[in-house]
Amino acid sequence: MDLDGSSTSAAAGGSRSVPIRSRRQKAYYLFTQQNLPSCKPVLTPGWVITTFLLTGVIFIPVGFVSLHASQNVVEIVERYDAECVPEPFRSNKVAYIKDNSTSKNCTRILKVQKNMKAPIYVYYQLDNYYQNHRRYVKCRNDQQLLYGLKYNDTSSCKPEESNDGLPIVPCGLIAWSLFNDTFTFSRERVELKVNRKNIAWKSDREHKFGKDVYPFNFQNGTLIGGAKLDPSVPLSDQEDLIVWMRTAALPSFRKLYGRIEEDLEADELISVYLVNNYNTYSFGGKKKLVLSTKGWLGGKNDFLGIACIIVGSFSIVIAIFFALLHVKNPRPYGDPSYLSWN
Ligand SMILES: *[C@@H]1O[C@H](CO)[C@@H](O)[C@H](O)[C@H]1NC(C)=O
Ligand SMILES: *[C@@H]1O[C@H](CO)[C@@H](O)[C@H](O)[C@H]1NC(C)=O
Repeated sequence: MDLDGSSTSAAAGGSRSVPIRSRRQKAYYLFTQQNLPSCKPVLTPGWVITTFLLTGVIFIPVGFVSLHASQNVVEIVERYDAECVPEPFRSNKVAYIKDNSTSKNCTRILKVQKNMKAPIYVYYQLDNYYQNHRRYVKCRNDQQLLYGLKYNDTSSCKPEESNDGLPIVPCGLIAWSLFNDTFTFSRERVELKVNRKNIAWKSDREHKFGKDVYPFNFQNGTLIGGAKLDPSVPLSDQEDLIVWMRTAALPSFRKLYGRIEEDLEADELISVYLVNNYNTYSFGGKKKLVLSTKGWLGGKNDFLGIACIIVGSFSIVIAIFFALLHVKNPRPYGDPSYLSWN
């Protein structure tokens, strides 16, 4: 770099115009010499203490508000995988779930603890289920989900890509392992309707799963992994599949099953008739049924509130500690005799 800029202006065409050159030169110097206007905060004790205090004063109320929102959400969680195996089979649950001749029906009674306002979301929750496993996550073919049999490069779907020489739609392990327990609800012998429409993301339904792609040769192998699909319904309307194929990031996850669009009163008894088909027994997974209302912050989750309260309290404690320190050992600012090398 040449600092006086003479060669730049010579290259610019020879017409020497002094004002432009000197202006350029000045800007050049301001920047490289770090003389541009800037803010140089001096962290005096007053500033530091005020900042910590302010952080505390903002975070603690925000924490309490979100904690309150989360605690207003009413949730019923029922683990059913153990109880839904009849007594004589409890010692060998895997044999029970694999035996096609035994009935898998099961009834659970849920007691509503607090009033629940519609819509009440019905989820199934799986624990210890690693949908995030690298090979599982990749075992799908998005082009095929959108274009169907027209798209034939399904090598990513191995080992669930074809059966008896015919391709499978939807291919891959994720689709193959589709959850297949079903739930119906009743209250005082009247069926509680569960709305199973619009449970998947709209963008998935419209842009990722084809409207004219129909299940083909699906779940036809000798080893059945999960639910079958109705071959007359296009993939874009198979919402359970769409929900299932949005794989969960953590080994404990909930997936939406439907919505109950009636209020439930406290102390009511809800009967759940479920068909316990899905095999989580061979890998020690748990199955739960969750009914939950929704607050303005979403479902029940105390984490945000507690985290805010902890951060806020820490800030206040630090502010008080610094204030005491400052009161106890005050000293003048900018006194060079305090420099460490003196
Ligand atoms: C896939 O389709 C293309 C053209 O549609 C065809 O040339 C190719 O042979 C097919 N591949 C397989 C494995 O069927
Ligand atoms: C449900 O899925 C299990 C695998 O988890 C399978 O063995 C069973 O045959 C399936 N049952 C139905 C009715 O789809």
